[in-house]
Amino acid sequence: MEFIKLFEPIVINGKLEVKNRIVLPALGLDYTRHYNFNERFQGFYRARARGGVGLMTVGPIAVDKVGSAPSMPQLFDDTNVEPLRNFIDEVHGDTGVKVATQLFHMGRYSYSFLWGEKPIAPSAIPSKLTKHTPREMTKQDIDDTHRVFVEAAARAREAGFDHIEIIACTGYLLSEFLSPLTNQRTDEYGGSLENRMRFGVELIEKMRKALGDDFSLGIRIAGNDFMEGGNTNSENAEFAAAAERAGIDAVNVTGGWHETPIPQRLIATDRLKRTRFRGSGCRSRTRQRAPVPQSAGSVQPESPVVRPLRRVSPPQPPQPPQSSQPALPVCGRI
Ligand SMILES: Cc1cc2nc3c(=O)[nH]c(=O)nc-3n(C[C@H](O)[C@H](O)[C@H](O)COP(=O)(O)O)c2cc1C
Repeated sequence: MEFIKLFEPIVINGKLEVKNRIVLPALGLDYTRHYNFNERFQGFYRARARGGVGLMTVGPIAVDKVGSAPSMPQLFDDTNVEPLRNFIDEVHGDTGVKVATQLFHMGRYSYSFLWGEKPIAPSAIPSKLTKHTPREMTKQDIDDTHRVFVEAAARAREAGFDHIEIIACTGYLLSEFLSPLTNQRTDEYGGSLENRMRFGVELIEKMRKALGDDFSLGIRIAGNDFMEGGNTNSENAEFAAAAERAGIDAVNVTGGWHETPIPQRLIATDRLKRTRFRGSGCRSRTRQRAPVPQSAGSVQPESPVVRPLRRVSPPQPPQPPQSSQPALPVCGRI
């Protein structure tokens, strides 16, 4: 078989030339407990860059503390700008890979209650993942969250990233605004689909304005949320079109939320337990094994191998800290 297109260059919306069509998507690797872009992250991404990927996503990256975890690098201040810039310069020079990042906010799925901040979300609807109820965002929270995204995007550009992606899927903050299941607001950010899209559309517009017209900007959406009563390919396609009108250059399509029978990502398999949890200081509390590791895109809802997973047990109450490191309840939640 000849991979004619796969190894041909592609230009994203006339702005960013990528040497081939192989993309490494965002992966929550949990390689830090201090929000830093450390050697372990760099080693992982260096190997992928040398492996020949065309566009490599370094991320997720936190835009603030309430929507993220110390297990990912952050761009809510300048600490990581220089290490990221050095790394991006190195892999640009070595491999010609283009480097993207994914700016990340978990909203209702956040475990920020463990470090004393109540998670925020469009509406105060309990998280099935954390078993905690977030606080409904005020208009001020909406403006502040837009601002931290835009500030993180400006830092990402300063660090030399070629492309920035906003996560708008998986049951995280933007998809919570989009879905009638998690958005029961009565103001201009809730109700009709147009209103539910407003948080994301305004964010894209603000980001586009800050980054300038030439910078490549993307969004990751779900083709289908696979949530009963939630958004399907129809609503999500409308959002993709609205996102494009607001200034997006690329749409990355995945599917499912963390709480769906077809998860966006399996939380634990035997392999994950062996590799990701060993020696990490974190415990896997998954009770049920997934039958076959597979992504949302590869199966249909009625497929017999897909059954609802009892994903994880609720987190234990926070234990008294044993060291100065922030305590994370479970690895691999991001
Ligand atoms: C450990 C792990 C962490 C992930 N973290 C993220 C994430 O932070 N953001 C995101 O958009 N997707 C995340 N994903 C989903 C992947 O980007 C990807 O969509 C998924 O593994 C399916 O891959 P496939 O589309 O090649 O089948 C994660 C997946 C895994 C396995």
